Amino acid sequence: MKIGLFYGTTSAATQEVADMILEKMPDFEIDVFDVYEQDLNKMSEYDKIIIGCPTWDIGLLQEDWRSKFDDLDNIDFSGKTIAYFGCGDQNIYSSSFLDALGILEEKITAKGGSTIGHTSTEGYNYDFSKAEKDGQFVGLAIDNDNEPELTEDRVDSWCKTISEDFK
Ligand SMILES: Cc1cc2nc3c(=O)[nH]c(=O)nc-3n(C[C@H](O)[C@H](O)[C@H](O)COP(=O)(O)O)c2cc1C
Repeated sequence: MKIGLFYGTTSAATQEVADMILEKMPDFEIDVFDVYEQDLNKMSEYDKIIIGCPTWDIGLLQEDWRSKFDDLDNIDFSGKTIAYFGCGDQNIYSSSFLDALGILEEKITAKGGSTIGHTSTEGYNYDFSKAEKDGQFVGLAIDNDNEPELTEDRVDSWCKTISEDFK
């Protein structure tokens, strides 16, 4: 039942969502790691993983994820189940909304990981997102810059879904 939650954050939005996830999944033992200070090889120790990454600098990974991205090449994700969440801004960065989520999911899936926790794109308004695959987001899409009032409900319903899928 142990889950490893790995997140990166620059202005704390993603950390707040990580805290919310912990509150909403009390039945699971979740170890939390800030990628700023955690070697990504730690992921090898978990079969159930939650990844949080905001998009920065127009379509790029948050800086801590960016500096460690190549380390993912050394990890075998086969047999691992991964749920992704990300923070972004669909108004100002409408053509790269949540791209980081898509970049990480693509890389980890290529390394054998199985993705859970897809969500609907309905209710969002953006031009392009690398996080959109087959008409769905590859994970939980949070926009605290424009829709903070929707965050808690979005986290809540996503946590219910992944709690089932992680069992
Ligand atoms: C300079 C800058 C570039 C950004 N680029 C993007 C982007 O390309 N796509 C996106 O969805 N959000 C973008 N954002 C919005 C951030 O992802 C958003 O504010 C997020 O909540 C930050 O998360 P954090 O506080 O965990 O670092 C950008 C914000 C800034 C200030």
